[in-house]
Amino acid sequence: MTDDVLSVHGGSPLHGEITVRGAKNLVPKAMVAALLGHEPSTLRNVPDISDVSIATGLLELHGVSVRPGAARGEVVLDPSKVEQANVTDVDTHAGASRIPILLCGPLLHRLGRAFIPDLGGCRIGDRPIDFHLGVLREFGAHVEKRPEGLYLEAPERLRGTKISLPYPSVGTTEQVLLTSVLAEGVTELRNAAIEPEIVDLIAVLQKMGAIITVQSDRVIRITGVDRLGGYVHQALPDRLETASWACAALATGGDVYVRGARQIDMMTFLNVFRRVGGAFEVHDGEGIRFWHPGGSLNAIPLETDVHPGFQTDWQQPLVVALTQASGLSIVHETVYENRLGFTEALVAMGATIQLYRECLGGTPCRFGQRNFRHSAVISGPAKLQAAKLVIPDLRGGFSYLIAALAAQGTSTVHGIDLIYRGYEDFLSKLAALGALVEQ
Ligand code: EPZ
Repeated sequence: MTDDVLSVHGGSPLHGEITVRGAKNLVPKAMVAALLGHEPSTLRNVPDISDVSIATGLLELHGVSVRPGAARGEVVLDPSKVEQANVTDVDTHAGASRIPILLCGPLLHRLGRAFIPDLGGCRIGDRPIDFHLGVLREFGAHVEKRPEGLYLEAPERLRGTKISLPYPSVGTTEQVLLTSVLAEGVTELRNAAIEPEIVDLIAVLQKMGAIITVQSDRVIRITGVDRLGGYVHQALPDRLETASWACAALATGGDVYVRGARQIDMMTFLNVFRRVGGAFEVHDGEGIRFWHPGGSLNAIPLETDVHPGFQTDWQQPLVVALTQASGLSIVHETVYENRLGFTEALVAMGATIQLYRECLGGTPCRFGQRNFRHSAVISGPAKLQAAKLVIPDLRGGFSYLIAALAAQGTSTVHGIDLIYRGYEDFLSKLAALGALVEQ
């Protein structure tokens, strides 16, 4: 069996304790933010995942020294020797993730120009960057898109501006934050994303010396400053990994304590978990216990949305649990147009899932009138049978692990390397929870 394939013997409930560390969707961005400062920064609670290695590689190419700190999970970033990177070297990161696009603002402020390779990231939709390019031009950057990537220049200091996003995009909000903090004057961002990872990034920037106000109606106001220092910051825990293990407990009929998890970041998930019939117990400042209380699970209508709605990255793991619920569940995915394709493999395992182009069970969304199968009707409970599973994307991949654990028989899961992008040490965690897996 090659390293990239896992054999999973299903049918045993997961039991035990695991620990989650810093959020995959915050840590690389906080590392990029260090580039804006003139003093070293220290980031704590950094997980050992490949997205962190990608950010490290990109920053080192631009002269930032990235080294382990005194404690486990601590990283010290020193941006005092920032320099232009060689385009060919940067290009080696092409297609790896979406992190490179966030270096635009910091590199323009520090060096006046930047090259950004072609982006990667999960194939869960078209994932255009039109909003990003639009806001960078608003700040006064010259942006030239070429086949190999983006060439950017800031002949003068970037200027604060008024922006209203067509959709509360997380990445574009981060782009505006990382560009506006050193721009001249005030930036007003309307229809901003306000995910917990965004708020944590704002905390990082404020520690560096930035002036950022978050108002109630998705308006963020940033007053540019001339110079930023460094930060010392503890990254918020990964609420997406936490929810994935919670869904694994539910789908396998198990009981999992997630040390490090925080209630405040995942209230919406906890409500849905309870509505499906799962049980949880919060231990403030320590973690959250998730378990299947026995009996049957409840089918529900579910719609994904931007925060504080139900996070799209919780959808795929929860869909696996919903295949075990009694009745008809309806799932309306409104954030990505192609995030239900992974259900095909679940159907091959014995689940009953029908996909639709209509906006089922919820409010009409951007994908409604277009040719995207972005709603699902799940009829359960279904007895899942083992199968050969090929991982399509990060969350789809972890969901296949859950399905294989809940299924009868031995499945083979191919392409597990992709899971390391966002799930630290998941093989030892599976073993700690009593999962019967072998590589
Ligand atoms: C971030 O992606 C996360 N990734 C995603 O998590 C998460 O699903 C997403 O936010 C939504 O919460 C990281 O933080 C690295 P967006 P991002 O910009 O920033 C459209 C995971 O599994 N859009 O909020 O790329 C876009 O196509 C990953 O952990 C444009 O149309 O998401 C999508 O439909 C997957 N034009 C929607 O907005 C643009 O220029 C949301 O995208 C930008 C976005």
